[in-house]
Amino acid sequence: MIRISYSSKLLPEYNKYDTIQNINLISLKNNTKKNINGELFWNYETGNIIQIIEGEINNINRLFQKIKNDHRHTDCKLMECNEITEFIYTKWECNIAQQSKKIITFNDFIPISFLGKGGFANVVLMENSLNKIKYAVKVISKMNINKKKIDMISREKKILKELNNKFIVKLHFNFQDPLNFYLVLDYVNGGDLYNLIHNNNYLSKNISVLKYYFHQLIIGIDYLHGNNIIHGDLKLENILLEKNGQAKIADFGSAVKIDEPEHKLKSTSGHTLIYISPEQIYGKIKNQSNDIWALALIIYEIYYLDLPWKNYNSVNDLMINILNLDIDLKSSDEKLNSLFRSMTIKNDYKDRFSSEQILKSEYCADINWENVLENTNIPDILVNDQIFHSPKQTNYIRGLTTDIELTI
Ligand code: ADE
Repeated sequence: MIRISYSSKLLPEYNKYDTIQNINLISLKNNTKKNINGELFWNYETGNIIQIIEGEINNINRLFQKIKNDHRHTDCKLMECNEITEFIYTKWECNIAQQSKKIITFNDFIPISFLGKGGFANVVLMENSLNKIKYAVKVISKMNINKKKIDMISREKKILKELNNKFIVKLHFNFQDPLNFYLVLDYVNGGDLYNLIHNNNYLSKNISVLKYYFHQLIIGIDYLHGNNIIHGDLKLENILLEKNGQAKIADFGSAVKIDEPEHKLKSTSGHTLIYISPEQIYGKIKNQSNDIWALALIIYEIYYLDLPWKNYNSVNDLMINILNLDIDLKSSDEKLNSLFRSMTIKNDYKDRFSSEQILKSEYCADINWENVLENTNIPDILVNDQIFHSPKQTNYIRGLTTDIELTI
């Protein structure tokens, strides 16, 4: 393997020069070095060959066709300089272990077991042989990698790196090798909210369980929203649980930062439709109020052990449910029921309560936040050695998901 150390450092510099018009990326199956008109180098981080070409666009196109016709380079791509994401050409920076100053790589981990599959990633339990800590490592294959996928992984990594909150899964390291990208996350080993409520029917209409999780989730969501982040796929399956019951919001694969361009905020791709908000059905851009809608549905589901949507056999029926059905929480706490109504306002989503308004609501005035943060308020019904355990495999997709843009 040829390691070209200047690839990551020089490329941003090249953007300054008009003479560099295009960059040619060739996914190379064998890593032989081949000179075709100009600098050619192996990016050891991505497994790509990068060629920088100067010149007239017509000549570049001709050369590109020639390379494409060469059977060794069938998945060759020609990209405009400004189209190249940070990811392909820059080093996907590795965290440096604090004391040893050692760069973390795959060789520092011992795979233990498969935890689950989600989207195009596998999650594997691995132990770090340096500190002996177990992590859940999200492994994203580079097979059939494309710009959209790279953008998504890059965004997830960037967002996770910013986050540090007790109720959110933490990213500890990230690195890559020619085959995969790796996100090394907290290992949260008490299962998830989906399994907790669906395996324990006696939790039905238990208001203390509802409140216990609502209070933790609103802290996590308010932290995200305060940092201009939209989670974008809140659902029971993405709320992982520690052995002591505490919740951690996971899976930032659909998360976006609010300052992203509008078209990126518009996509509902991969979103679990049963939690989709009315305004998303109408094609409004992703918004923090979508997360509040999903949080309200999570609360509803914890309480009733089911979502309110009934008798739907198609996406259309489900959408009609979401748009037309009035949802109501009929708990014994009137302040909570009233807050729920403010979190599920449909007609104008801008009137729906924000996380800040929720925290300032009459209902929240009575909460002892210290207890929430210290997890000293766990309901008696959840104090049970057997209740928090990981399912054998967390690989389920509930209801309908979509890869299409929704607009009706
Ligand atoms: N499955 C997906 N992410 C996980 C995590 N962080 N911990 C445990 N299991 C997981």
